[in-house]
Amino acid sequence: MYKEIDWKRIDLNTAPPREEPERQYYYIALCRELVQREAEKLGRPLTFCVTTFGCQMNARDSEKLAGILKETGFLEAEEERADFVIYNTCTVRENANLKVYGHLGLLKHRKKSNPHMRIALCGCMMQEPEVVEKLKKSYRFVDLIFGTHNIFKFAELLAQMLEHTGQVIDIWDGTGQIVEELPVERKYPFKSGVNIMFGCNNFCSYCIVPYVRGRERSRRPEDILGEIRELAADGVSEIMLLGQNVNSYGKTLEHPISFGELLRRVEEIEGIARIRFMTSHPKDLSEELIQVMKSSSKICRHLHLPLQSGSTRILKAMNRKYTKEQYLDLAARIRREIPDISLTTDIIVGFPGETEEDFLETLDVVRRVRYDNAYTFIYSKRTGTPAAAMENQVPEDEVKSRFDRLLALVQENAKMQTARFADTIQEVLIEEVNEHDESLLTGRMSNNLLVHFEGDASLVGCIRRVRLDICKGFYYMGTLIPEEKE
Ligand code: SAH
Ligand code: SF4
Ligand code: F3S
Repeated sequence: MYKEIDWKRIDLNTAPPREEPERQYYYIALCRELVQREAEKLGRPLTFCVTTFGCQMNARDSEKLAGILKETGFLEAEEERADFVIYNTCTVRENANLKVYGHLGLLKHRKKSNPHMRIALCGCMMQEPEVVEKLKKSYRFVDLIFGTHNIFKFAELLAQMLEHTGQVIDIWDGTGQIVEELPVERKYPFKSGVNIMFGCNNFCSYCIVPYVRGRERSRRPEDILGEIRELAADGVSEIMLLGQNVNSYGKTLEHPISFGELLRRVEEIEGIARIRFMTSHPKDLSEELIQVMKSSSKICRHLHLPLQSGSTRILKAMNRKYTKEQYLDLAARIRREIPDISLTTDIIVGFPGETEEDFLETLDVVRRVRYDNAYTFIYSKRTGTPAAAMENQVPEDEVKSRFDRLLALVQENAKMQTARFADTIQEVLIEEVNEHDESLLTGRMSNNLLVHFEGDASLVGCIRRVRLDICKGFYYMGTLIPEEKE
């Protein structure tokens, strides 16, 4: 285990090992020397900042980058004051992509007045060849560029960057490799994401993720359970199992196991009080999973079940592999079996060829399922995906008007659904002191709703009972219930 490694004992006069993770341990030891040398020259410690765009998967990757940087002697700092700035990028929609270029413009400016500053870019955007070409040509001030498949090599790339001047670029087309036992620095002491699989095999026709994250690979159950046990021992009480489609977990393993079975084993781990997971593809959601959720006392009462469209015709063109009726049936079964569950979803408006009738089908599903919340997106054309080549793209003003109508309905539903918990007492995991009012704490319920209530900062990280007094639309104001004396 890396926690037991004494970096000083790694012999840097020998060649780096070929096996992983030993090779990365060697480079961490080397980076420690390089960082120390530079810090001595500057007369102060070196600082870093990792900025994350995109999904939970990227957030977890950023924790891995931060873990390695801390081991090498870098201290964390605000982006404005950091010597080393890393952007972990997303490219799922064009907006995400444009944001990164916007930020880079600002960084270029700062680097001019602070020449020893270094900049790295990694993540999904770097898996697009056009992006890397553009960076090579017009963004020479970026020092290190790497992708999603070789993130485990970060220590090695960091050493290269620290030892050389000039742009270091390393992008892989794919990998079957999963490297375990590398340092991680969690953002929250009491909750953590846990990767259970990487990549995606579904190729929804609008989506770039399978191209930038590669084929689906599941981690071995013993590695996942081992990591969760360590997290529990380290004070984590809530975990979120992460994958692009957790419902197909385990199918490609040497000894296949189902996602439901994995959940059963996670449930047995002492110290873990709450289990969440993201994301479920409706086509693979099994009856077994519904039953495991129903009988579990730890799995949270929240299921994110992306719909994308309510029109069977559009779902077919999206390659989602379910019909409107199948989705409605699944949602109804889940609501029937687990009545207190919150259902949330993702919806895309303006997929090529979407007509007013198709859109009305989407509104119909939203009305019938009564989502507790929904993330709504305007379709964004991603180069290389099948949908980008479809001819019948929907005019922008049409899409905008549909988007507004959908959002209004989604918000109306969300308010109604949120209100159904008024005056109940709920267990919450207290996550933070309220940013705007220090006398308030913010807690998250099992169903993912937030409640703000008066309390002491020492309670952050604890699970407590709170009465939901006033529904504020999408969240509650509440009162902490005093703990009963034993
Ligand atoms: N694996 C997850 C989703 C990952 S991307 C799943 O299948 O549910 C998160 C969301 O972004 C998707 O659910 C989809 O609604 C949205 N999305 C993906 N590609 C998009 C595109 N090209 N345009 C607009 N939204 C998109
Ligand atoms: Fe994209 Fe579909 Fe895979 Fe989700 S399941 S990541 S939407 S291709
Ligand atoms: Fe974005 Fe990559 Fe996640 S494209 S949504 S960061 S998998």
